[in-house]
Amino acid sequence: WPFHAPLVHAINRLKRERNAVILAHNYQAPEIFHTVADIVGDSLLLARKAAETDADVIVLAGVHFMAETAKVLNPSKVVLMPDMGAGCSLADSITAADVRLLRQRYPGVPIATYVNTSAEVKAESDVCITSGNAVEVIESLPGDEVLCIPDQYLAKWVASQTKKKVYTWNGSCEVHERFSGPQLAAYRQQFKGDITIIAHPECPPDVLAEADFVGSTAKMQDYVEGKQPRRVLLITECSMADNLAVNNPGVEFVRPCNLCPHMRKITLSNILSSLTTLEPRVEVDPSVIDGARRAVERMLAVGK
Ligand code: 13P
Ligand code: SF4
Repeated sequence: WPFHAPLVHAINRLKRERNAVILAHNYQAPEIFHTVADIVGDSLLLARKAAETDADVIVLAGVHFMAETAKVLNPSKVVLMPDMGAGCSLADSITAADVRLLRQRYPGVPIATYVNTSAEVKAESDVCITSGNAVEVIESLPGDEVLCIPDQYLAKWVASQTKKKVYTWNGSCEVHERFSGPQLAAYRQQFKGDITIIAHPECPPDVLAEADFVGSTAKMQDYVEGKQPRRVLLITECSMADNLAVNNPGVEFVRPCNLCPHMRKITLSNILSSLTTLEPRVEVDPSVIDGARRAVERMLAVGK
C-alpha cells in the first residue's frame, strides 16, 4: 500500500514521541492492522493488554466500548478514540436502567455482561464476558442460573455449552445477524462440501448449526493457523479474512463480505490526527468507573 506510507511513517514517529500504543481489533482494515498497530487481537486480548500497558497514551483502533474498557482500566492515562462515532449495535441495545430492572426481575441471579456495552452498563453488572471466555466465566459463577446480556445469540450459544439456565436480552450484532443458515448451506453445496465453516458466536443459531467450529475472533485465528484448512469460510466481519490471509498463504479464504460500519470509521488519517492533537479523548464518569473496573477485573481474573 505505497500511498499509505507517509501516514504510516508519521503515525509511527508520533507514537514514539508520545509513548503511545495502538491497540487494534482483528476487524481493523489491513492497512492499520499490519502497519501501525502494536497489539492486535480479540476483545479479550485487547482488554488484557490495556490492563498491562506502561504507555502514557492508548489509541484504540476499534470501537467505543473497547476504548472505554481501556480507560476504566487506566483512569490516569490518555485514551484516544480516533472517531467517537464508532459505536456498536450491541452496546446501543441496553442501558444501565435496563440492567437495574433485570436485577429486580431476577433477584439473586448473577449478571454476566458482554464487554460490548457501555461503562454504565458494566458498572451495574457482576462480571464481564467476551466471546473468548463467556462459557468459562459463566461456569465460574455461583448457582445454576445466569443472566447473559445483551446479545441474545451469544447467550443461546452459551446455553448450548453449559448446564446452567441462561436468561438474556434482545440485543444483537448488526453484522453477524445478517448471516443465515441457508446461506451457509449454499456455500457447502457450491464447493461440494470441500469447505471449513468457522462462525462467530454472535451469529444466529441456524448459522452456528451449519458451522464446523464456533469461536471468538482469536479462536478463529488459532483454528486456521493450527489446522491450515484448504478452504475456509469465515462467518464474521470480513476484514478478519483479509488480515488472516496475509499470514496464511496456503489457505483459500471464501469471503462473503459483511463489514462493520463502526470499525470502518477508524482510518490512518484519523489515527494520525488523534495522535497529533491528543483528541478526541474517551472519558468515563467517575461515578461508574470503579463499578465497571470491578466487573472487567473479575472477568480478567478468571482463567489466570
Ligand atoms: P471478539 O474479537 O472478542 O470475538 O469480538 C468480536 C466483535 O464483534 C467485537 O466487536
Ligand atoms: Fe458491534 Fe458487531 Fe460491529 Fe462488533 S461487529 S463492533 S459486535 S456491531
